[in-house]
Amino acid sequence: MAEQNSTSETLATSGGVPALLRVDEVTKIYGSGHTAVTALQAASMSVDTNEFVALLGPSGSGKTTLISIIGGLLAPTSGSIHLGGVDVTGLSARELTRFRAERVGFVFQSANLVPFLTARENLLYVAGLTKMPKSHARQRADQLLEELGLAARAKNVPEQLSGGERQRVAIGRALMNDPDLVLVDEPTAALDTALGRQVVQLLRREIKDRGKTGIMVTHDLRMVEYTDRVFEILDGHLTHVESPTTAGH
Ligand SMILES: Nc1ncnc2c1ncn2[C@@H]1O[C@H](COP(=O)(O)OP(=O)(O)OP(=O)(O)O)[C@@H](O)[C@H]1O
Ligand SMILES: [Mg+2]
Repeated sequence: MAEQNSTSETLATSGGVPALLRVDEVTKIYGSGHTAVTALQAASMSVDTNEFVALLGPSGSGKTTLISIIGGLLAPTSGSIHLGGVDVTGLSARELTRFRAERVGFVFQSANLVPFLTARENLLYVAGLTKMPKSHARQRADQLLEELGLAARAKNVPEQLSGGERQRVAIGRALMNDPDLVLVDEPTAALDTALGRQVVQLLRREIKDRGKTGIMVTHDLRMVEYTDRVFEILDGHLTHVESPTTAGH
């Protein structure tokens, strides 16, 4: 119980502190023995509050692995992640669940919506995992659905939505709880260029206006112009690059 309280305090107070993200020497090896795959090799990066960075790299290079570890969805084999002073890699399973609900907005490569809930209910559902007042949650859900061009689709369940619409609901859901850290995996893959730009601009605005930190995995160089810096992964090796070479692969 005492341990839980001290963590609650850490998580609560760190909300007011810049959500600086630090990734230190993170290595991920899937499996063991001769089937072992090294997906990340001593990856290090630092991203500031208010920064929106792009993560590029060919298929299989380790992008999803990296953001899954940063978001506390996957444990690294070694290395550490700090967000706003919290050692994410040191949290218990229970603390991690809370950390993810309150501080991380994750947009998966596949939208992963709850199939029997409408677009609006998918947003309200994640607000229910936190202490957000219901009236505020309804207001925020409606505002996000409007900004994402989904107001008219709010009452549709995922199977009644197009791929791009589902992806936009997933983005709304990720932003719903006003997370410090927004992690998006290929948010524009199912969108046409105009809509893709619109969605990435919305992400950028949320990150800039609300003091968040954002990492976007993308193959689309056109979306990179909305980000502040570019990182690239090649075979599990992460580097900060000035001029990306792998986009489009
Ligand atoms: N659960 C797993 N078990 C074993 N190997 C895995 C697992 N998940 C991913 N890998 C391997 O780790 C490497 C990195 O995978 P990852 O999903 O991070 O790549 P990615 O850069 O996101 O690729 P893509 O652009 O295709 O989504 C790949 O070689 C992949 O086959
Ligand atoms: Mg991936």
